[in-house]
Amino acid sequence: MPEVVLTDVAKRYGQTVAVESMSLTIGSGELVALLGPSGCGKTTTLRMVGGFVPLSAGRITVGGRDVSALPPSRRNMGFVFQNYALFPHMTVAQNVAFGLQMRRFGRDDTARKVTQALNRVRLDAYAERYPRQLSGGQQQRVALARALVIEPDVLLLDEPLSNLDASLRQEMKIEIRQLQQSLGLTTIFVTHDQDEAMSTADRMVLMYRGRVEQAGPPAEVYARPRSQFAARFLGVANLLAGSMTLDGTEFMPKTGPMLRLRGQRQIRGDAIFALRGEEIGLTTGTVPENVNCLGGRIGIATFHGSTVEYHVMTDAGITLISRVPAPAVGGAPVLPCDTRVSLHWKPESGVVVAAENG
Ligand SMILES: Nc1ncnc2c1ncn2[C@@H]1O[C@H](COP(=O)(O)OP(=O)(O)OP(=O)(O)O)[C@@H](O)[C@H]1O
Ligand SMILES: [Mg+2]
Repeated sequence: MPEVVLTDVAKRYGQTVAVESMSLTIGSGELVALLGPSGCGKTTTLRMVGGFVPLSAGRITVGGRDVSALPPSRRNMGFVFQNYALFPHMTVAQNVAFGLQMRRFGRDDTARKVTQALNRVRLDAYAERYPRQLSGGQQQRVALARALVIEPDVLLLDEPLSNLDASLRQEMKIEIRQLQQSLGLTTIFVTHDQDEAMSTADRMVLMYRGRVEQAGPPAEVYARPRSQFAARFLGVANLLAGSMTLDGTEFMPKTGPMLRLRGQRQIRGDAIFALRGEEIGLTTGTVPENVNCLGGRIGIATFHGSTVEYHVMTDAGITLISRVPAPAVGGAPVLPCDTRVSLHWKPESGVVVAAENG
């Protein structure tokens, strides 16, 4: 399977900049998740790769061949659109067969491939139905079958799970990953859901305002957001404004005491200390040694299945969020509001990033 390379790709609509400048390589057989907030340019990027939107600047190559000016029919890519776009007047089987007919496959070949594709997404019993007779999830699977049936070199998925309920989404996520791996497809998977991106992707690409903000293996991006935007978007619960001391060993928040740091990249000027709730321990007993420690009172406790999240009003005047294991997975019993607690975390926990302007 070919590798896909985007070089300084941009898209403008009059005054609107949909994609500012995207440079990105999707390796052979790799699944890259494009993640980012609404309007950051994910769909536009995907449509440029698919050939549905002409580029304003830059170029796209597939297996070393420049496809920037080729129509979609000459790119051999499977595409699942954000709104799945099935033909309403065609049956499921006809929808799936469409791409094969365009490519002038014979009748027997087409029938065999359609059956195989519908089998893959477990919709063989629905071949003669019309899209309006299917649930949203089933329509989404037809769209996936239609993309796979042409045996594409590259698979482009635009929020393919957006209309599924939680359990079907979980199932389809695993199915897409298995199909993609067994067929070895080079894949771009667009989503605005970080769990979906983290659990399916080899590499996660966080987009912001039409650019790549940060890219890397999911675990690395999760652990080390590189900007205030990334930290916020990736759900880091505690973001403290302040600055780093010149020697990099302490963080001075605007309110509250100095916090010890270890192993942080040096950030000059206004900075943000980003600390995940999971990194903050909470105890009513003795605090471990060599940690940052703040006393306070529990404000709210919320239950999340395997974890409990506490909002703690510290004596220093800042509220911190701590997320600890729930009783069912070996954690302590849930503490009531107003309980006096100590919060603590290691100096190497968290990450300091530059503060955004304004
Ligand atoms: N045909 C168009 N004409 C004008 N502006 C457009 C057009 N298509 C997209 N845009 C603008 O370009 C920006 C990026 O849109 P895009 O659809 O790529 O975002 P997205 O990241 O896919 O968002 P979402 O998560 O909501 O699907 C938006 O500000 C959008 O309004
Ligand atoms: Mg979109």
